[in-house]
Amino acid sequence: MQNSLLSRYSGAVPRYTSYPTAPHFHEGVNTEVYAGWLRSISSGQRISLYLHIPYCDRLCWFCACHTKHTLKYEPISIYLESLKKEIAAVGDLVSRGAKVTAVHFGGGSPTMLRPDDLIGLMASLREAFHFADEVEISVEMDPNDLDEPRYDALAAIGMTRASLGVQDFHPDVQRAINRIQTFDHTKSVVDAVRARGVHSVNCDMLYGLPHQTEETLAETVRDILSLAPDRIALFGYAHVPWMKKHQTMIKEEVLPGVEERFVQMNLAARMLMDAGYEAIGIDHFALPTDSMAIAQREGRLRRNFQGYTVDAAEALIGLGASSIGQLPQGYVQNMPATGEYQRMADNGGLAAVRGVAVTDDDRMRRRVIEEIMCRFELSFVGLRAEFGPAVDAIVSEARIFAQSNQDDICRLDGDRFVITDIGRPFARTIAAVFDSYLSNGKGRHSIAV
Ligand SMILES: C[S@@+](CC[C@H](N)C(=O)[O-])C[C@H]1O[C@@H](n2cnc3c(N)ncnc32)[C@H](O)[C@@H]1O
Ligand code: SF4
Repeated sequence: MQNSLLSRYSGAVPRYTSYPTAPHFHEGVNTEVYAGWLRSISSGQRISLYLHIPYCDRLCWFCACHTKHTLKYEPISIYLESLKKEIAAVGDLVSRGAKVTAVHFGGGSPTMLRPDDLIGLMASLREAFHFADEVEISVEMDPNDLDEPRYDALAAIGMTRASLGVQDFHPDVQRAINRIQTFDHTKSVVDAVRARGVHSVNCDMLYGLPHQTEETLAETVRDILSLAPDRIALFGYAHVPWMKKHQTMIKEEVLPGVEERFVQMNLAARMLMDAGYEAIGIDHFALPTDSMAIAQREGRLRRNFQGYTVDAAEALIGLGASSIGQLPQGYVQNMPATGEYQRMADNGGLAAVRGVAVTDDDRMRRRVIEEIMCRFELSFVGLRAEFGPAVDAIVSEARIFAQSNQDDICRLDGDRFVITDIGRPFARTIAAVFDSYLSNGKGRHSIAV
């Protein structure tokens, strides 16, 4: 039964961190369009900022992030100068009445920044934008990068949430993904950020990695649990060597197959829930006291480019090479190539090169997909209150899918479309039923499980 479900529902589909998804972005959304969108952010609206630092001092072979390996610091210094120009230009266009409520430093490895640069970057943000009194400041950390001055700089910029890449602790797995990181060192990083007042620690871990077995994964889960992180992201390794050449260093014959991946995912999820973590959406776990678990219970969980989030800002502004923003009018992406990004930022400030304006149908389908990914159900009454008679199309698509489905992955329950416990691991595949762009064949995705 399980194998036939896997063969039917673990095909390649988007991760739905946006809708329409990135392959449907086009060049029509350029710096001029973006400037208009930024100008229309009004006073009183909340803004969330995402800053991308596309550099790492190690290259992990599994990595699918947009990053470059560098052992020299000079390229980073040059990049930061351009980034500051973009920050100033974006800040000039946005109303001073709009308030920044969240800042996320992502990458790559923002922890590669020198302490003074980290503090200088935060100062540029505070100069360009108006900050709310309480701001969530989160940083993606490579535990490998950290030292005392960096911890102090992270505390000085007001970091409230630390997200550590762990992946797996087993030496065979670490060798196969070119990422050596001991448990003791990782623990020292968790202790150090907590000692500096960080209230929330997240650990990223992966299943489906080379040489991973149920035993090695269980050991990693036990180790991670001993760190008592507030949140854990449990991602399936996305093997996309056609996009990321360095992943060819990972031999496919040592990768767990789709059935083994499914067993691994369930094993890790069960261990985390038995230890008191609440399952959040398809790939997150949080202690009941964590804001993400609270948001899920209160129906406030959202999904954006960073995955699951509690961020309720009306506008997410992406800064830096390749970063993606989500504004009320649509999505916008900056130039991914670092050199070209720098030229654009140095010459005019903005570096938007593609995006998509969302239509009313996109907004409705985006909500449908977000409900499926975050809450595993649709309320047709709720959707109708928001989108009116257009929801009839969704009801009919849901009915056709539920009635033709023999596997009990979803069902119609009065005025609701509900994903069953059997169907939850396949939420991406079920969400894809409502994706009206998928049939045009753009984009190639990782497997859904
Ligand atoms: C920017 S990285 C983490 C921060 C930091 N650079 C580090 O490695 O510790 C963000 C996360 O994306 C996840 N990730 C990267 N490549 C992935 C892939 N191919 N499949 C699934 N998750 C991946 C990893 O769990 C990683 O921790
Ligand atoms: S996993 Fe982190 S440190 Fe490793 S290459 Fe990717 S972004 Fe860099």
